Amino acid sequence: MSEPWSSSVDAHLNWTPGTGSTGLADTIRAAIRDGRWLPGVVVPSTRALAHDLGVARGTVTRVYADLAAEGYLTTSQGAPTRVATAGAEPKTGPPAAREARTPRWTLEPGRPDPSSFPRDQWLAATKRVVQHTPNSSFDYGGPAGALPLRETLAAYLGRARGVRADPSRIVVCSGFSHAITVLGRALRDLGHEEMAFEDPSFTLFRDLATAAGQRVVGVPVDDDGLRVSDLHSPTAVVTPAHQFPLGVTLAPARRTALVRSGAVVVEDDYDGEFRFDRQQVGALQALAPEQVVYAGTASKTLSPSLRLGWMVLPRALVEPVLAAITASGAQPPTLNQLVLADLIASGAYDRHVRRCRLDYRSRHDRLVTALPPHLEVRGISAGLHLVVPLPPDAEAALPATAARHSLGVEPLSRLWIDRTARRGGVIVGYGASSKPAFGGALAALLAVLHELTG
Ligand SMILES: Cc1ncc(COP(=O)(O)O)c(C=O)c1O
Repeated sequence: MSEPWSSSVDAHLNWTPGTGSTGLADTIRAAIRDGRWLPGVVVPSTRALAHDLGVARGTVTRVYADLAAEGYLTTSQGAPTRVATAGAEPKTGPPAAREARTPRWTLEPGRPDPSSFPRDQWLAATKRVVQHTPNSSFDYGGPAGALPLRETLAAYLGRARGVRADPSRIVVCSGFSHAITVLGRALRDLGHEEMAFEDPSFTLFRDLATAAGQRVVGVPVDDDGLRVSDLHSPTAVVTPAHQFPLGVTLAPARRTALVRSGAVVVEDDYDGEFRFDRQQVGALQALAPEQVVYAGTASKTLSPSLRLGWMVLPRALVEPVLAAITASGAQPPTLNQLVLADLIASGAYDRHVRRCRLDYRSRHDRLVTALPPHLEVRGISAGLHLVVPLPPDAEAALPATAARHSLGVEPLSRLWIDRTARRGGVIVGYGASSKPAFGGALAALLAVLHELTG
């Protein structure tokens, strides 16, 4: 085995001769992740590095091109190649400021690939809407949302998710965050003051329900989803198609038990379009449309920046929810609602979702294949995230280790309401990276897990 080598061009590389372009790329990635090659600095020229390492210049050129595609380096015509600055660490300043920086790599859950947004199709749909919509579309909108979107959603949700919808029971809102806020208020006004959430579940929604006047309680989740026999609240908020964060589906017997429990069920169908292993699980709402509020969002299929979501409501909740929407003073812009309606009606939305499904599936499979065999994966093959369980001490070291590798990921245990039930792990959101950066993010994750678990 040859001795590791350090570059005389002061490149601070620990490169092992004979490892070819793969070894050189790994070495440079490690130098960037460890901070030996700092964000923004000009890297050695291909000629100088090739000369120094005694390799062909073409090898260095190829490695630089690959690393640029992965997001480690930036290149532009006529300018020197630099270490990418996205999320660059401030070179000076107190440690707290350095800690708070945006990580270079992200595998944070709950986010779709921002580079997948269908810009051309959105632009084309916007143009069509602006040219053809009547002047009245530019007035204040009603609390239920734009009728063309509600009509389009009724057909789409029936076809794609099996939801029993008609436009008169659909209300457009600003994502699930807004939905849970207005539902919390509307149900409180109807005398339902306690909301049960799956334990674990997304903390933000529990906080929003509390802020809306609800008492929040947790109901445990096992491999069959929510333990319905432990539910004693008038309202239950669930993620039946793909539990967040554990990734299980609600078992058929539990689905039936839940809709028969007498509780108002809020079905958060946040990533129901992305199921990879088998037929999609249809919406729970179809079993009991007068018991279940179906809630969907464009945050995973298109972009969370749109702040666009929708509820399909039991008839008895339509008026109270419209009153709560009015009181909230918030609604997504009518123009965006009309553009989404056009996108769905033209078929562009379906094509986009199909493309994303293929991409997320391949990322999921790549991630599962790359994980070392001593680590298991929890959850079905679906959505934009999976969970890797970790011993508690490894999870405790996760934030600092991930920060050192400039990787954004989320620890699992914080999401429990019942502290005694907490389990350690990492939630890996494989959708969040742009395509070229996914390889780098995956390599950073593997390095983090290697440090944490050997
Ligand atoms: C479980 C769950 N539901 C719904 C959402 C979508 O929320 P919103 O529509 O407010 O963006 C998220 C986003 O992270 C989520 O994690």
